[in-house]
Amino acid sequence: MSQTAPAPAEIPERTQQLRRYLMCRPEHFTVSYSINPWMEPATPTDTSLAVRQWQTLYDTYISLGHEIELIDPQPGLPDMVYTANGGFVIDGVAYPPKFRYSERQGEERWFTQWFRDNGFEVVEPESMNEGEGDFLLAGDVILAGRGFRSSDDSHRELAAIFDREVVSLTLVDPRFYHLDTALSVLDPVVAPGATPTIAYLPGAFDDESRRILEERFPDAIRVSDSDGAVFGLNSASDGRNVFISPRAKGFEKQLAERGYTPVTVDLSELLLGGGGIKCCTLELRGGAR
Ligand code: ARG
Repeated sequence: MSQTAPAPAEIPERTQQLRRYLMCRPEHFTVSYSINPWMEPATPTDTSLAVRQWQTLYDTYISLGHEIELIDPQPGLPDMVYTANGGFVIDGVAYPPKFRYSERQGEERWFTQWFRDNGFEVVEPESMNEGEGDFLLAGDVILAGRGFRSSDDSHRELAAIFDREVVSLTLVDPRFYHLDTALSVLDPVVAPGATPTIAYLPGAFDDESRRILEERFPDAIRVSDSDGAVFGLNSASDGRNVFISPRAKGFEKQLAERGYTPVTVDLSELLLGGGGIKCCTLELRGGAR
């Protein structure tokens, strides 16, 4: 009796899209206050290690052809390295943040000034929002996190400014207080109307949000709790290379099975502030160079 082995599942070919990111060297990084469960001011931090790890991420992006802009780090603003919170940008229009906690509010003017100096049109925010930490562009829609940092009003403001559908998702686990700690968009560019592949941590969302994600993204990668707990989802993607924590072993395998190339970068020191790869990476879409 002859037996035919099942055909191996087709692994799709992924296409890299060159990106332009804003980053901030963590020269003043430390943990001197606590505004999320990861931050323990009593635990010592090693600023030079943080800078070295950050530099590896920078070098990795550059070596793969991406363009990186830098904003000057400011003394007394140790969280400024997490540039994802510095705004949300589409088509050269920048919506700067209005941080929930006073410890980070001093960053607002620096990011706003940077956008102005670099040819972006700035729309002053009225509502509390933490930029791309909570807002992720997924094809034609904006996925927006609520529950810990960005306000519901900011979701409405976002829809009005960018004239796009905003899908609100409610975060429920304090460890995953920004949307970008619980969900990652793997295809930064898709054809109009097409749905990008996303990955997410189901347990970070309430039931209603999980239902929305299942309905809109039936092919999503669902990441395990253990990969989520090491900030596996706090990743950046250029459509082919996905920059992830080396600790997210299961997610690494899931990505490879879908045809993506996992690129691991260890930012363990920056995790002491409650941030990872994506937190250190703000996507700049459009705008003058
Ligand atoms: N210490 C920062 C805060 O709590 C970390 C921000 C992480 N950024 C992010 N995009 N998730 O605000």
